Amino acid sequence: MDTDSDGALQRNQRTPRHVAIIMDGNGRWARQRGLPRTAGHREGVKSVRAVVEESIRRGVEILTLFAFSSENWRRPRSEVNVLMELFMSALRSETRRLHDNQVRLRVIGERSALPGKLQRRIAEAEALTAANTRLHLQVAANYGGRWDIVQATRRLAAEVQAGRLDPSQIDEYCLARHLSFPDLPEPDLFIRTGGEKRLSNFVLWQAAYAELYFTDVLWPDFDAAAYNQALEDYARRQRRFGYTGEQIESGLWSLPDVCVG
Ligand code: FPP
Repeated sequence: MDTDSDGALQRNQRTPRHVAIIMDGNGRWARQRGLPRTAGHREGVKSVRAVVEESIRRGVEILTLFAFSSENWRRPRSEVNVLMELFMSALRSETRRLHDNQVRLRVIGERSALPGKLQRRIAEAEALTAANTRLHLQVAANYGGRWDIVQATRRLAAEVQAGRLDPSQIDEYCLARHLSFPDLPEPDLFIRTGGEKRLSNFVLWQAAYAELYFTDVLWPDFDAAAYNQALEDYARRQRRFGYTGEQIESGLWSLPDVCVG
């Protein structure tokens, strides 16, 4: 792999452009050490930092992290409070560093349900980093894949009602343009740590063609080496998008632009 003048590894074809991660296993990591579950979330912030830095080094363009799902409100109030405080403190301590590393931060999800102070800090961090292009870091907070499809459907319905769109014009590309990140390519690699093998309502539509990678490593233990193992596993896969293996090998295939960003 080539290196650029900063020493960063250049992206090659086998590096995913977009990696989406379910950061699971914080609670178990803490319990195994006789600590409260929230200690695992605090430790998990270190893994977030490691994966962001390694994504920059490896030339990954977009990293989407599932920090809080629409369903996580069901957890004990005290745990929800700690998670909200952690987002606040991570934004306070990390935004400047992200900006210095030319990382653009964006939060996806139903943010109106988040505490007002947190919403304001998110908006400030997004505004500060808006022009950065080295890595696009998306944090999913109060996000659900089904919510995303429903809010896109609502927006399409409003356009139909306003007479700007005919129902016959609605196809999958049209719907995709109303989802949470229509300006970015869909995830190429979908990682879940913590041993469970399910999608848990994360980027359901956008991950239709993502390569899935499940590891038993608990999120607080997911370091640069563990992340690199996932990237190496991805590099060995053949993605076919409905084509045959022979067609892919011949190079005579293409995807509509809307699928690849
Ligand atoms: C799932 O583990 C993890 C979460 C619900 C929270 C993830 C949050 C962080 C890693 C911290 C902050 C993140 C940012 C972006 C600042 P779990 O609690 O379900 O673990 P378990 O399955 O072992 O119980």
